[in-house]
Amino acid sequence: MLLTRRLPGLLYTYRYTVYSIVILLCTFVSFLFKWNILCMNIQAWQHVKKMCNLYEQGVAIGSLCAPLCITRDIHSLTCHSFEATKEAVFSAEWHNIRLVFKSVPKDLQAIHWFDNNVIKYPTEKEFLTTIRTIVKNKLNLTLAYDTAVRLSRLKPTYEEKNKEKRHKEMDNLWFLLQDNEYLLSTLFTDKDVFPQLLGTCGPYFAVEYLEPVPDISSLLTISDSREDWGKRLKVGMQILDLLDELETGFREPFYLCDIKIQHFGFVKGGNKLKFIDLDGVLPKSVVNTIIKETERCERDDDCDFFDCRSRCNKKTRKCSAPVLNNNLQVVCEKIFLGWRMSTTVIVPGLLMSQHTPSELASILRQCANPEGVEGKPRTAPEAEIKKRLYDILSEIEQSVNNDFFL
Ligand SMILES: Nc1ncnc2c1ncn2[C@@H]1O[C@H](COP(=O)(O)OP(=O)(O)OP(=O)(O)O)[C@@H](O)[C@H]1O
Ligand SMILES: *[C@@H]1O[C@H](CO)[C@@H](O)[C@H](O)[C@H]1NC(C)=O
Repeated sequence: MLLTRRLPGLLYTYRYTVYSIVILLCTFVSFLFKWNILCMNIQAWQHVKKMCNLYEQGVAIGSLCAPLCITRDIHSLTCHSFEATKEAVFSAEWHNIRLVFKSVPKDLQAIHWFDNNVIKYPTEKEFLTTIRTIVKNKLNLTLAYDTAVRLSRLKPTYEEKNKEKRHKEMDNLWFLLQDNEYLLSTLFTDKDVFPQLLGTCGPYFAVEYLEPVPDISSLLTISDSREDWGKRLKVGMQILDLLDELETGFREPFYLCDIKIQHFGFVKGGNKLKFIDLDGVLPKSVVNTIIKETERCERDDDCDFFDCRSRCNKKTRKCSAPVLNNNLQVVCEKIFLGWRMSTTVIVPGLLMSQHTPSELASILRQCANPEGVEGKPRTAPEAEIKKRLYDILSEIEQSVNNDFFL
């Protein structure tokens, strides 16, 4: 009571301090929005409004335009933003399916051009060649003719005969195909490691929603029960399985150059783990090309493409060509072991708990830092470490989880 009566007086006495605090707080919150750490559902609605405007103008086409803008079957918009670099990431509900909408990068050049004020489009043949060039440049893959044809259409099996509509389709596809995430989701529909593409509308596309991995390693959870430990081990095994599919399931291994626990997710109702953020998912040879393109390096850090690391040749000041670490090394370092400052674990990772046997901890350390160097490790673990990790993990996982379910 006393405090409430004295509060106005106190506020007045310290008014400058109070003003400063309020201003600082407002600035802080506005930066949280600016950096997309916070987001509001209103931002998701603005994107839908933009999509529907483009649709009404006849610029945007795609399977999701009508359910969004006319029948309005797509509802319950929720924004998702964890320091998102993409302009739009929000989810929505459509006949009990949860979709995640993403937008392609802005400021792309259109595929049509003007010749004496007459709008021009490439021929079908030129369009196919362009698509193959994009895929070659982005993924170092040579597309089979049928695949190129499939990619050249919004509905894979429908050929648009109307010239004007076909040109709209080309305009829309052109933007989508520049996006690595769209490209991987459409190309590898049969592989079941990337989120399924569910539809598009203009420069937006939607993929299946994946359930986040229960963020057991977060600072906020204190629980360290044996049941939780069993769950963590299971997720650990599933991550190793996913890495295996990425390494052996394609013509060339795929590298995940931006690994975080938030970038893994489960298919709804299923047990299948997939990788969410495909912007940094590239075949090895493409990662090598990116690293090689670094103009000049001073330190090893200059030769990193996010989590894909190489070394700086101190003589030539060029990055040494092949990427030196691999997915397993980063997963061991950032996901399994946790966040460390030099040698001390500060935030324990997925597989670090009071239940972690010392043998597992030792293998994890060797996997995360095969050469035991100071600073960022830049070596891939040897096949033997990989096998030992797999063996010990499946052994403990089975014994812990069998205890539970018997
Ligand atoms: N298919 C999905 N299912 C569930 N959540 C998703 C999906 N796609 C994205 N998200 C959520 O939205 C967040 C941002 O999406 P995404 O990673 O694709 O964007 P980004 O701009 O590359 O962000 P960042 O790289 O900073 O995480 C993800 O970390 C994830 O939590
Ligand atoms: C593309 O892949 C092929 C086959 O794997 C490889 O020989 C070639 O060097 C790669 N090209 C580039 C530019 O990385």
